[in-house]
Amino acid sequence: TPIKLLILPGDGIGPEVMLEVRKVIDWFASNRGLAFEIDEDLVGGASYDVHGTPLTDAVMDKAQSVDAVLLGAVGGPKYDVLDFSVKPERGLLRLRKEMDLYANLRPAQCFDALAEFSSLKRDVVAGLDIMIIRELTSGIYFGEPRGIVTEGNERVGINTQRYTEAEIARVARSAFELARKRGNKVCSMEKANVMESGVLWRQVVQEVHDTEYADVELSHMYADAGAMQLVRWPKQFDVIVTDNLFGDLLSDAAAMLTGSLGMLPSASLGAPMENGRPKALYEPVHGSAPDIAGQGKANPIACVLSFAMALRYSFDLGDEADLLEASVNDVLAKGLRTPDLGAGEGTRTVGTAEMGDAIVEALSER
Ligand code: NAI
Ligand code: MG
Repeated sequence: TPIKLLILPGDGIGPEVMLEVRKVIDWFASNRGLAFEIDEDLVGGASYDVHGTPLTDAVMDKAQSVDAVLLGAVGGPKYDVLDFSVKPERGLLRLRKEMDLYANLRPAQCFDALAEFSSLKRDVVAGLDIMIIRELTSGIYFGEPRGIVTEGNERVGINTQRYTEAEIARVARSAFELARKRGNKVCSMEKANVMESGVLWRQVVQEVHDTEYADVELSHMYADAGAMQLVRWPKQFDVIVTDNLFGDLLSDAAAMLTGSLGMLPSASLGAPMENGRPKALYEPVHGSAPDIAGQGKANPIACVLSFAMALRYSFDLGDEADLLEASVNDVLAKGLRTPDLGAGEGTRTVGTAEMGDAIVEALSER
């Protein structure tokens, strides 16, 4: 049966980079015998322009029924004046919420060809390949009570960190499952030394490990120490699992170990569906980049690598994902750079389409 994909290019550079991903998908269909059933639709401002809403119920239904959703980016200055309820971002938030995508996967991966451009020493980042899993649907961003209240004669700002056992267990399972497809190692980060939710987090992750994933190597670290270790020697990690707040910070910091926003993919996964695959949405970390939209110079690699993650984590096509990532490295090694990657000796600045074409060519050359 063909792989069912819903493609939502969105706004700004979203459609530009997605065009290059389509070339890659076509290559896999023609050369690797993969069958895709692709549906493309609107999200964000593009949907608002046509339907008056950033996500129609029809597209929501499609997202629930496909094997994976691939999204470009949403938003743009044109929509800043809109009411909050119909802002482009609400389309993406609704997708994440209704698909219940509780595990956010953010890889920090260093392509050899770019290692010398990292702000860190070459040997710290060369060959780096780690994955941060951030709990995405609970924790302090959602906990009740919340608000700004008046106590006596001053205002008090309140947020609540709250995690149920089930919420911790399911994201822990995602981490262990993922580790088995990678280096078989999980480090769980919290602050059990000062937070009750951290104490429970550590207990539940350990329990899930002992009963279901004893074959995976598990360690625990306080999140502040983890932040230090992440910058000092990131290669000690394989999979890191952490809560929503710590994951927000740690994943952004880890991302910058390896460089440009234009290179960073992500995945958001939910519970397994009937076919055993998790509910899944793949998207680049970057936004719609209105400052360069329409100029043909956006870097398509983040979106291409998001598709590689789909191959690996939704469809168990690890060899194909490896091939695609290696081809991206080939292109960078040849010196091709979109403007966001800078320029140097032996590099050649190319546009979005040329970068996409080069990746497809590199696929054929392997
Ligand atoms: P942004 O990620 O769109 O851009 C930040 C900077 O990085 C810009 O200078 C941009 O040109 C550059 N950049 C980003 N992706 C690039 C790529 N692929 N190639 C080359 N350069 C790239 O973030 P910003 O400017 O804060 O937000 C712009 C719009 O995007 C806003 O409306 C925001 O709400 C939305 N946004 C949407 C996201 C999503 O769809 N998941 C995530 C972040 C922002
Ligand atoms: Mg963040």
